[in-house]
Amino acid sequence: MTAERNAASTPSHSEQPTAPYLEAVAAYGLRGSTRFHVPGHKGGGGADPGLRSALGHAALLLDVPQDIDGIDIGPSPTPYERAERLAADAYGASRCWFLTNGASQGNHALCLALAGDGRHVLVQRNSHASVIDGLVLAGGLPRFVAPEYDPELGMAHGVTPQALEQALAQGEPCTAAFIVSPTYYGMAADIAGCAEVAHRAGVPLVVDSAWGAHFGFHASLPASPLELGADVMLASTHKIVGSLTQSAMLLVGHTERVDIGAISRAVRLVRSTSPSALLMASLDAARRQLAVHGELLLDRTIRAAARAREAIERIPGCAIVGEQLVGRPGIAGWDPLRIVIDVRGTGLLGYQVAAALRASYDIHLELATHATVVLVLGIGQPVEPLDRVAHDLAESLKRIAPAAGLAGPPAGHSVLSEPPTSPGSEPAIAPRAAFLGASEAVPVQAAVGRISTESIAGYPPGVPTLLPGELVTAEVVDYLRALVAAGARLHGAADPSFRTLRVLA
Ligand SMILES: Cc1ncc(COP(=O)(O)O)c(C=O)c1O
Repeated sequence: MTAERNAASTPSHSEQPTAPYLEAVAAYGLRGSTRFHVPGHKGGGGADPGLRSALGHAALLLDVPQDIDGIDIGPSPTPYERAERLAADAYGASRCWFLTNGASQGNHALCLALAGDGRHVLVQRNSHASVIDGLVLAGGLPRFVAPEYDPELGMAHGVTPQALEQALAQGEPCTAAFIVSPTYYGMAADIAGCAEVAHRAGVPLVVDSAWGAHFGFHASLPASPLELGADVMLASTHKIVGSLTQSAMLLVGHTERVDIGAISRAVRLVRSTSPSALLMASLDAARRQLAVHGELLLDRTIRAAARAREAIERIPGCAIVGEQLVGRPGIAGWDPLRIVIDVRGTGLLGYQVAAALRASYDIHLELATHATVVLVLGIGQPVEPLDRVAHDLAESLKRIAPAAGLAGPPAGHSVLSEPPTSPGSEPAIAPRAAFLGASEAVPVQAAVGRISTESIAGYPPGVPTLLPGELVTAEVVDYLRALVAAGARLHGAADPSFRTLRVLA
């Protein structure tokens, strides 16, 4: 892998229908070479027969290691280099790195590259846990900026440019701004506005677009963050675009605000020396499908989703949350590949509705909260299940509503209120110091006034209430207890029942 920009010899658009890495791996995997190299299953011949039957022989033949001549070594550009360059080109980026440990790996690498020891960085409060983990690795100091919050639905949206500007103007200068767009619910932030504000403050804008790898590939979708002025974006390609689970991309725009060499070094540091060829080949293939057929596939999915939304809206008690929110603070666009259903009118909790769909129709959803259920679609979503989902939902509701004995909005809406956080926009000590320090588990009441070594976010609403290095307050403890009592899950808590909390010893 070279440290230069992939665009040094930009491939022409006519190369997008090729998938050079996939093709090279398949050619080597299937040609019957004698393998005196790892992995030890030797293309499946030495594998457990059960694994061979489960995965199929072809998957094992293609499970090849790094450093195979004609795949990722040999005359440059190798098929691997060409594949990353094609991905960069498809996104209008100057550089792409294939990631084999998800967008999580991307956040770790970006923190190492942009938020090293003692540097201050601006971080959206409800960033993915991997950003805080990245700061633990890197030693950077977060200054948090709150997302807009909808207490009715218990839903966090994006940050506004105004909030970003204010946070950047406080305290020590920041070296980068990390924001998230779109949200888990498909709401996109005003990236152009945020980029303008960040650039005025002299910092690069990093957009975690884990959920937006398809943005920019259809007129009904928001543009991609790079197109809107972001310097760096992460795409969790597996989530919606259809590469294999755990594969993702880190993309840098045509910008001088970040050091490509530093990012390259950091990506290498948090990557195995044996990255999976299957994952990387799936990224190459997913890029090809998105660049070549994405518009058409997305068109079909978007139309089918619109039909499903209309039918769901007709179900008593169900309301679609989506396009009508665009224009509210923190929401500049939305993703039609998410179907978010507000089920409060049914008198049921989102968890109950999700369980009923599972029990009656073996339908599994991406997310259920108190107020909502969320369906995530893929770019080439099979249409038939989408066309029947409203029927299945209506039937499931008929079956459980009488049994649940509920009428009107369900109890437990206190959990939808905005989570309190530790006072101030910066933790009391660096997340790294808290994470690495000696810690002890104490009863939660005794934790008040101590420094948390844990990261805890309640679902809903998915906004971290406590992060490593933050002071534990009585308000935070009361809130998290109320969440557990109302049936919400505490992500990241060492004790999910929240009887004890780990604090610095
Ligand atoms: C905003 C955001 N960033 C990053 C990640 C991590 O992505 P991955 O699972 O690909 O590591 C997620 C996962 O859900 C996410 O929601």
